[in-house]
Amino acid sequence: MERLPIGVFDSGLGGLTVAKEISRELPNESIVYFGDTARCPYGPRDLAEVRRFVLEIGSWLTQRGVKLIVIACNTATAAGLALAQRAFDVPVIGVVEPGARAAVHATVNRRVGVIGTVGTIESAAYSTAVRALDAGVTVFSAAAPRFVDIVEEGLRRGPGPLEDWIAESSEVFIRPSFYEIARDYLDPLKRSGVDTLVLGCTHFPLLSTPIQQVMGPRITLISSAEETAREVAETLERRGQRSTDRGARLEFATTGDAEEFSRLGARVLGRSIDSAENVTLPDLESLPSTRLLALLDDPTLTEATSCA
Ligand code: DGL
Repeated sequence: MERLPIGVFDSGLGGLTVAKEISRELPNESIVYFGDTARCPYGPRDLAEVRRFVLEIGSWLTQRGVKLIVIACNTATAAGLALAQRAFDVPVIGVVEPGARAAVHATVNRRVGVIGTVGTIESAAYSTAVRALDAGVTVFSAAAPRFVDIVEEGLRRGPGPLEDWIAESSEVFIRPSFYEIARDYLDPLKRSGVDTLVLGCTHFPLLSTPIQQVMGPRITLISSAEETAREVAETLERRGQRSTDRGARLEFATTGDAEEFSRLGARVLGRSIDSAENVTLPDLESLPSTRLLALLDDPTLTEATSCA
């Protein structure tokens, strides 16, 4: 079992920020990363639809053989973490609870801001997770959907660091400018007096420098990636499933264009991606068994969930 890879999935490329951190924390672990780029973004979709995607990708990963699944997507975690935990025989870890825990540890004035996709923010998954950890912390949330588009656009357009692209082309390709959009989302949170801001979307750590500029230097930005990686390490340790393998491999699969995934993904991951397997949507959609699909009708699993 310990030699099996960790399965990590996201709606697209953003979850590679989490895979990168897991790989840094656990260099002996092999990872199979699945990016559902053909159906990205998940953020504006109905959470019921995202839950079905969670079952499909979880089925693909478990059939492939993984010892643990990380849902490296905030929207998919908010929609389907409890469902996946019930559906699959391996531990499933999401990104919401680790991010909430890091924020609760970081805040001094106990006022925490959260930005994420519409799906994540409307699910109230972060507020629920924060409240479960410390009912005295107040959460102020804002959906910031255009940040996802800006990251996607920036990854496609420029070869250099995304942040350089934003600094150079904020007024050119992004309308209104990046900073106007960011101020629209972030100024109300600043006015609420938050001292900590959770980047509650896998794409947002790629914008941390300009977001920090808008929020100001005193605000602590939280990305769930590190905390999630720590939780993966602890879970494997507890189960006696840490790998000592020196030949750890990173493998990739995508529902979108494999060449584009490899090229753009390498920029997020900070290392080259030799190839990615293409998985077709009809193949993926056919994977969940009738038993798993029946779970979609279980009302106890269809509320937004937040606990890993
Ligand atoms: N991965 C998604 C998340 O973390 C962001 C992109 C999307 O909307 O699919 O919520």
